[in-house]
Amino acid sequence: MFSLSHDDLTKKILGCGDGPASFNAELSANGGNVISIDPIYQFSALEVQSRIEEIYHRIMDQVSRNKEDYAWANIRDVKELGEVRMMAMKTFLNDYENAQETGRYLNAALPTLPFENAEFDLALCSHYLFLYSDHVNQEQHVESMKELCRVAKEVRVYPLLSITNNKMSPHIVPVMEALEDEGVNVSLAPVKYEFQKGATEMLVAKRV
Ligand SMILES: C[S@@+](CC[C@H](N)C(=O)[O-])C[C@H]1O[C@@H](n2cnc3c(N)ncnc32)[C@H](O)[C@@H]1O
Repeated sequence: MFSLSHDDLTKKILGCGDGPASFNAELSANGGNVISIDPIYQFSALEVQSRIEEIYHRIMDQVSRNKEDYAWANIRDVKELGEVRMMAMKTFLNDYENAQETGRYLNAALPTLPFENAEFDLALCSHYLFLYSDHVNQEQHVESMKELCRVAKEVRVYPLLSITNNKMSPHIVPVMEALEDEGVNVSLAPVKYEFQKGATEMLVAKRV
């Protein structure tokens, strides 16, 4: 999703809106330096687990109904998708339960983050900004991206398509213009990952 190099993985990373994903668990187990923030981290592992169980079938049904919106190459079908996602969530839940003291999972939410300026080398945000363009308005997108650029020297966001129509988010251009006005260098870069059909680019923002 983010074209991460080995060098990138040695950086101090912020995972923004990481939810029940396994990135933090896996990178930390391999000696990486990563902090994840998400409003769901106000809940206990048991509470997050029961919520996942509650909504799992509904989400899988939604994907089944909209199968043609996804590229079934690495993941063959909805069943395999469910297995892969559940495995990642189990890895997250195990780590989350044991990592409370480490400060690797913080209950925080965009557009205001509890970090110093340039505290991170790299901030990553997947499947939140731009994807939910109908629910998160333009001002929230602009403020959130400015905040990510404040706390990290480089920000990468993926995907850039709205979930409702699989088209480029209407917030991309206003966000790029607002960041450029603040002296941030913004570009779109191709990535090898594709699951949401056509989602083959990430946004890269670097303060110059
Ligand atoms: C679809 S999940 C994506 C999880 C993970 N990044 C991934 O790609 O699998 C979207 C996440 O965004 C989080 N979220 C919602 N509002 C947020 C906000 N204001 N700031 C940061 N994260 C937020 C949700 O709690 C949820 O965990």
